[in-house]
Amino acid sequence: MFLRTMQGASAQKITWNQHIAPIIHTNCTPCHKKADAAPFELVTYEDVAKRAAFIKQVTQSRYMPPWKADTHYASFANERRLTDEEIRMIAEWADTKMPKGKDVAKQEPVRYQEGTHYSRQPDTILQMSRPFHLKADNKERFIVYKIPFELPADMNVEAIEFVSSNRKVIHHANYEIDAVPDLDIYAGQEYINLTEEDRGKYLQYVPFRQRMIYYGGWIPGATCESYPKNIGWVMPKRGVILLTLHYAPVGKEEDNISGIQLFFTKTPVKREIRAVSFGSGGVGEKDIDPFFYIPADAVKTFRLKVTVPEDQSIMYVWPHMHYIGKKFKAFGVTPVGDTVKMVSVTDWDFKWQEVYWYPKLLKLPKGTVIHIEAIYDNTAANPANPSSPPRLIYSSGDMKSTDEMLTLVMLYLNYEKGDETIPLKNENILK
Ligand code: HEC
Repeated sequence: MFLRTMQGASAQKITWNQHIAPIIHTNCTPCHKKADAAPFELVTYEDVAKRAAFIKQVTQSRYMPPWKADTHYASFANERRLTDEEIRMIAEWADTKMPKGKDVAKQEPVRYQEGTHYSRQPDTILQMSRPFHLKADNKERFIVYKIPFELPADMNVEAIEFVSSNRKVIHHANYEIDAVPDLDIYAGQEYINLTEEDRGKYLQYVPFRQRMIYYGGWIPGATCESYPKNIGWVMPKRGVILLTLHYAPVGKEEDNISGIQLFFTKTPVKREIRAVSFGSGGVGEKDIDPFFYIPADAVKTFRLKVTVPEDQSIMYVWPHMHYIGKKFKAFGVTPVGDTVKMVSVTDWDFKWQEVYWYPKLLKLPKGTVIHIEAIYDNTAANPANPSSPPRLIYSSGDMKSTDEMLTLVMLYLNYEKGDETIPLKNENILK
């Protein structure tokens, strides 16, 4: 008796109900739930207890939850990271036979909307016109869909969300919204399979890309994008969405329809969000140094410098490379010589690319030089190399998934005094 009391006093027992469930439900369940990206559910005590040893391992190695950016370099609003204490608690729970513990008081009911993470139903859904059929061939696919749209008028956007009928087959998605006032938006192919087709086929979409209005991304577990008060963008009346989906390999036949849903507001947008793409296929492509090609068996570093033309407030950055990318870093050097750390990914993985939202608007003063540095490993020692033996890899503005890219997409506004204090988290986004 005496001994037991002593033990009880020296260490608190770690239980499912009290400690582990909240950690799992916040950090794992967004992806590990029914019909979502991960291969199994982590919702109930049983789901988690039977995998406790494995979960201890993947959390200690920080393989899960996936987060590829260096958290010491820069922090982000959408960061997924367990604290050292949370990792220790999971390990201890796994080592002490996973006690369930007493039920805790009922938690507040979760706010929930059918079919969306936003606090209300969407005003419009723009999606692929027909389902895409995936063969059971265990092959990755990289496909860009053209979704033409015509609305009654230009609309003020307060939130946007990626939607899919079959999330578990999608590794990541990116979409670009282009205003196209006068071309035939219905002409040409509905989609282009960048894994298989001639590289030239993508060129038919290039004329639609004259006026990029917005750029968004989704990876498993991500919710929707919405903006602080008075900030937003205007959905043009007419244009195309170019939606790129990276499909995971599947062992049985699957269908998918994806698109985006939009939430409009009558309140005019006072401060308009703009998107810019630097590097391959975008601003400064010709200035990538050295010239962008990667010979077989080489590890090569490329750099790009671009100057910020006016005071800007940055909302997010999206670093992009393909399979053989290894490291990606971006930082600004201001006219007075200060460094603004923007993002560093030291362990690039094509599967886990991410739109990195800053916790608050990030100021880049006029004249700041943004430095982008990327390293590629085109040797046979790189397990992610799609070619065996390695072959010469280049990029020419059209894209094929086995080509490479060096791109940084940035969402920004013209700077206004006080922007540094505006947070980018939004309470209208539900879990
Ligand atoms: C952003 C989505 C996401 C989040 C958040 C996430 N997972 Fe995963 N998890 C996945 C996907 C997708 C896979 C399967 C692909 C893979 O293993 O790379 C996976 C695989 C796993 C595996 C199997 C690994 C293997 O080697 O087969 C374990 C165990 C796991 N997750 C545990 C967790 C735990 C525990 C958490 C929370 C601490 C978590 N995951 C959070 C998406 C996620």
